[in-house]
Amino acid sequence: MNKIQKLIEEHVGYLIVFTLMIISVAMLVEILPLMYSKSTTKPIPGVKPYDALQLAGRDVYLREGCYNCHSQMIRPFRSETERYGHYSVAGESVYDHPFQWGSKRTGPDLARVGGRYSDEWHVVHLNNPRDVVPESNMPAFPWLATGKLDPAKVQASMTALRKVGVPYTDAEIAEAPKLVEGKTEMDAVVAYLQGLGLALKGIR
Ligand code: HEC
Repeated sequence: MNKIQKLIEEHVGYLIVFTLMIISVAMLVEILPLMYSKSTTKPIPGVKPYDALQLAGRDVYLREGCYNCHSQMIRPFRSETERYGHYSVAGESVYDHPFQWGSKRTGPDLARVGGRYSDEWHVVHLNNPRDVVPESNMPAFPWLATGKLDPAKVQASMTALRKVGVPYTDAEIAEAPKLVEGKTEMDAVVAYLQGLGLALKGIR
């Protein structure tokens, strides 16, 4: 044993190789089970892939950097569940690529914001947050109201997501342009927000 230890400690090359081997095994033991566990790979009841309009809204959410101020991950602490509702579970975000959990909260967590406000409230709020929350320091996003959606881009997003396991059917992808036709980026973001976290809404 001593000989092996001496060999490894005196040859930095061996040390690097053995360290990498140990880390790789440890990573496999931790990560592999999660990739096959039902609790992290199967959606919980009530969770469906975003429809075309919601998905377009999600893309706007990413483009505008909303995630820089908003997390979508309610931690299992009383202070969080009292405020936001049921803590987040992995089965809620199996169709989210990339997921929007985050931890930076300049604004409140949005994981369960769906249904909390009316569509009209969101439209006024996104156009100028101060109109409904006077002390708000959230930026205004007035251009969303006139921003047009690109049907081809929505279809491309759906096709790409299907490759990583989101079960969109050919029919859903073919119908996507109809769902976003004549809608603005504002409509899309609001549809996305209103769909967030409904599966475990009202459960504490
Ligand atoms: C610079 C930080 C910042 C950015 C960027 C930001 N927000 Fe906010 N957001 C806030 C703050 C602070 C609040 C709390 C005050 C308020 O309601 O306006 C808030 C509140 C909200 C609320 C109400 C949540 C609740 O439960 O009351 C929603 C919905 C929301 N933001 C959506 C968005 C969306 C969508 C975007 C991107 C288009 C966005 N925010 C970008 C800071 C931000």
